[in-house]
Amino acid sequence: MKLTTSQINEYHENGYLIVNGLFTEEEIQGLKDGIGKIDDRPMPSIIREENGAIRSVFAPHHRIEAFDWLYKQERLITPTQQLLNDPSIYLYQYKLNNKKAFDGGIWEWHQDYPFWHIDDGVKESQMLSVMLLLQDTDHAQGPLMFIPKSHKTGIAEFQPKAHLTADTIDLENSLNGDLKFTVKNEIIKNMVDQASIQPGIGSIGTVIFFHPNVYHGSNANISPYDRNTAIITYNVTSNLPEDRKEKNRPDYICLRDFNSIEADQRSIQEIAQSEPVSVS
Ligand code: SIN
Ligand code: MN
Repeated sequence: MKLTTSQINEYHENGYLIVNGLFTEEEIQGLKDGIGKIDDRPMPSIIREENGAIRSVFAPHHRIEAFDWLYKQERLITPTQQLLNDPSIYLYQYKLNNKKAFDGGIWEWHQDYPFWHIDDGVKESQMLSVMLLLQDTDHAQGPLMFIPKSHKTGIAEFQPKAHLTADTIDLENSLNGDLKFTVKNEIIKNMVDQASIQPGIGSIGTVIFFHPNVYHGSNANISPYDRNTAIITYNVTSNLPEDRKEKNRPDYICLRDFNSIEADQRSIQEIAQSEPVSVS
């Protein structure tokens, strides 16, 4: 599927682009059947809220064949190649972000690229993420929210967090409701005064392409409906993270299969969703 020139312009202007109806209900059901088979014993790549609910599952393609199928879909790859203006893309990060009905947690206002630049040593922001909505998603479910045009000025100053010091900060502060790199409140206020806050909402199977520097965040989900998503981040193969040896973040966070992605032509029905492929 090719994006139109007006969709490409909209992405570059606003820092995100919503495309409805990219996946069918049957395809989403195939993905959900796979999620149902996740072994949820405690393991590092499964991040939980304080109440025990699953917040994120990293590298779901290592466990569930349907998620291996998903990130290789031509309808995601072609638009990503268009938006990044590069034919050679690979999978940089992949996660399921869940917000359970009544219990879903927050994401503070942040940009993604600081984590990838500072922690992983990625030099350029020539990357993008794709969020797939796994159910109809409306305002009350804690959808992702964007500040349009905020991606244009690079990495913004961080909000000071006195409680996060060299001694207390850890990997969790890139994954939980207390992020180490958040955008300074005054900057958010100024941007929203000039622009607005726009929700990433839509029907099941909607896809949102978003820039690594766009300011985004989300509220808690106290609605009686889940807000589950898959978030796939692609990078271009000329922009690899540094190899910092023992300081590298775990492979399930910064994926290190740098082969450019070939489209998977199979249909969801052809995907055998038997046992997990591997577990990390
Ligand atoms: C969310 O799941 O609402 C936040 C996702 C993100 O920050 O990329
Ligand atoms: Mn983010």
